[in-house]
Amino acid sequence: MRKKMIAGNWKMHKTNAEAVRLVTQLRRMLEKKPARKTEVVVCPPFTALVPVAELLKGSKIQLGAQNIFWEEEGAFTGEVSARMVKSAGAKYVIIGHSERRRYFKEDENIINKKIRLALKNKLRVIHCVGETLEEREHNLTQDIIINQLEWGLKGFTADDFKRIVIAYEPVWAIGTGKTATPEQAQEVHAFIREILNTLYGSQVGTRITILYGGSVKPENAAGLLSQPDVDGALVGGACLNARSFFQIIQASEGA
Ligand code: PGA
Repeated sequence: MRKKMIAGNWKMHKTNAEAVRLVTQLRRMLEKKPARKTEVVVCPPFTALVPVAELLKGSKIQLGAQNIFWEEEGAFTGEVSARMVKSAGAKYVIIGHSERRRYFKEDENIINKKIRLALKNKLRVIHCVGETLEEREHNLTQDIIINQLEWGLKGFTADDFKRIVIAYEPVWAIGTGKTATPEQAQEVHAFIREILNTLYGSQVGTRITILYGGSVKPENAAGLLSQPDVDGALVGGACLNARSFFQIIQASEGA
């Protein structure tokens, strides 16, 4: 049985007071109606990791960071290390998000180094892959996915993959309100499993948790999550409100 997961990527939102309010509300909702089959992860900005970690003590909600730097430590002004986010209470880290690829020029080589360091520091990784609209229109979706899985994850063993979750996030669906149809998501998820089985061993793709991301909302979550190869969601905009994030968790529980 693959693990189901709903993860919230807060991006650059929420002051510490706002973060505390959001997580307090979410915790209350999940105490009334616990998620029994779904792991729930919240990924606030670095500044809110510690206060959110405090609030999550004794709860099943897991904490994730949105990024780490690719070196252990040193003179890298403004960067945050894997050890630091681990010490702040994070269990997960998102790596390779399309916004980092786009605005911070992160390529497969950088992403590979970051994943390596995350695993070394006993963090679990949510590794994002996905094509742009232009790539999809040129029928390049599969080539892009293969490239990202082959180079971003190069050198990892079947054992490493037990600590990696994949998030398929078509770039054209992120923050745009355009969601992939459940069928489009299913097709790429199945393809990702096939490629991982081919590249890293026959059980790797079959066993790995694959999330869908890109404008997931309470209204479309059930359709996406009912697909056989969609194990959960990485949620941006809709996770900034406790009720809508909770509704997506409920959709996963019902799927
Ligand atoms: P969105 O973001 O749900 O706002 O489209 C998803 C993501 O970027 O992880």
